[in-house]
Amino acid sequence: MPEMKLPDHASSKIEILPVEGLPEFRPGDDLTGAIVKAVPWLRSGDVLVVTSKIVSKAEGMLIRVPTDPEERDAARRELVEDESVRVIARINRTVITENKLGIVQAASGVDASNVAAGEVALLPTDPDASALALRNGLRERTGVEVAVVITDTMGRAWRVGQTDAAIGSSGLRVLHAYAGEVDSQGNELAVTEVAIADELAAAADLVKGKLGGTPVAVVRGLRLTDDGSTARELIRPIEEDLFRLGTNEAIAQGRREAVLARRSIRSFTGEPVDPEVLRRAVSTALTAPAPHHTKPVRFVWLREEGLRRKLLDAMKASWQADLEADDFTAEQVAKRLSRGDILYDAPEVVVPFLVAEGAHTYRDDRRNACEHTMFTVAGGAAVQGLLVALAAEDLGSCWIGSTIFAPAIVREVLGLDARWEPLGAVAIGHPAALPPARGAGDPGEGLLEL
Ligand SMILES: Cc1cc2nc3c(=O)[nH]c(=O)nc-3n(C[C@H](O)[C@H](O)[C@H](O)COP(=O)(O)O)c2cc1C
Repeated sequence: MPEMKLPDHASSKIEILPVEGLPEFRPGDDLTGAIVKAVPWLRSGDVLVVTSKIVSKAEGMLIRVPTDPEERDAARRELVEDESVRVIARINRTVITENKLGIVQAASGVDASNVAAGEVALLPTDPDASALALRNGLRERTGVEVAVVITDTMGRAWRVGQTDAAIGSSGLRVLHAYAGEVDSQGNELAVTEVAIADELAAAADLVKGKLGGTPVAVVRGLRLTDDGSTARELIRPIEEDLFRLGTNEAIAQGRREAVLARRSIRSFTGEPVDPEVLRRAVSTALTAPAPHHTKPVRFVWLREEGLRRKLLDAMKASWQADLEADDFTAEQVAKRLSRGDILYDAPEVVVPFLVAEGAHTYRDDRRNACEHTMFTVAGGAAVQGLLVALAAEDLGSCWIGSTIFAPAIVREVLGLDARWEPLGAVAIGHPAALPPARGAGDPGEGLLEL
């Protein structure tokens, strides 16, 4: 058998040993001393994996809260806000934050499990420093040279369930980059970077469990190297982070990136548009503001190809008549009509309408016209909402004005009554090519600050 090439941290066999018999920790307790007592078999080269909860307790990170469950929960929520520097997402009762350590996780790491009823635990203030202190303490008292990983339990954005991850570490290289190395098939592993400290945290949890009995485990058998790195290095720097804002929150907050990503896309690939994605974008668009608490915008999705063609053909005929009435020469008319119309070719077309029900009626036309403008701009806001929501879903779109010039034809072909005013049409699909990214830049003449 050919010899298997192992990464420098790996060995053919490791052991994961639970540490039994540790006491319940209280603020001020000697954590190092307790571990020395509980693990007389600790050896140099071992990795000591410690649940952050006991570090928090020993370091006095317990906060007194009322015992009444409702009041306790309210106090816990307040602490979650206090410990967070930014709320990333809030879905029902779950709050995902970036906490003071820079870690993105649920509830800022504030935890009410495995603590007394009148308390909740915050994370250690500097888990890397706690790991170093524990490592130094163990060396001083027993002469053994171990690595220490301090763990917490976290969800992963795109996966169900939680795993343990390293929030503090000392004495091991937290990342193993395979860049430049080649697998057995000869492929270069350009981007693979293994988060070894996280893998150790998750592996140790297999013997520690969550019910409180065994907060420490020892991983034995790894060939460790220490490059001085710490768990802080496992936090993805903001400039490399594509997922910090969830799409829902992003749109609700008018996310800059999604707004800037919206460009008029005039050619699409043949890839079909997922109907659920389109429905989701329309429901986002329908949250746009409108006067008098009305809901004056409707989107008509032309799903039947024959109907779309019938509408576009009828609009084309009417445009031809208009051009001829405007004294364009036959050649000029033919040239205009021969231009490609992306509404024929786009994978999907949605026609936005204004139905100005709920508009006020005044005694004079001037105010009626203003009232109508107010509703029309609300229609525009909803269409922009649709385009931005589509861009946030990586779909391209182009807002085409033509239906505005043929309202009677649109209503007739689609069987809609006179209240339905078309606001153009939106061509939708997967972009064949993306226009260059556009920064927001200087508002220039578009912003007058008086
Ligand atoms: C009401 C309205 C009507 C439009 N009609 C057309 C159109 O008929 N054909 C077209 O190619 N683009 C149309 N556009 C798109 C503009 O040309 C486009 O927004 C503009 O060139 C700026 O480019 P951007 O959308 O990439 O920022 C329309 C835009 C709006 C808001």
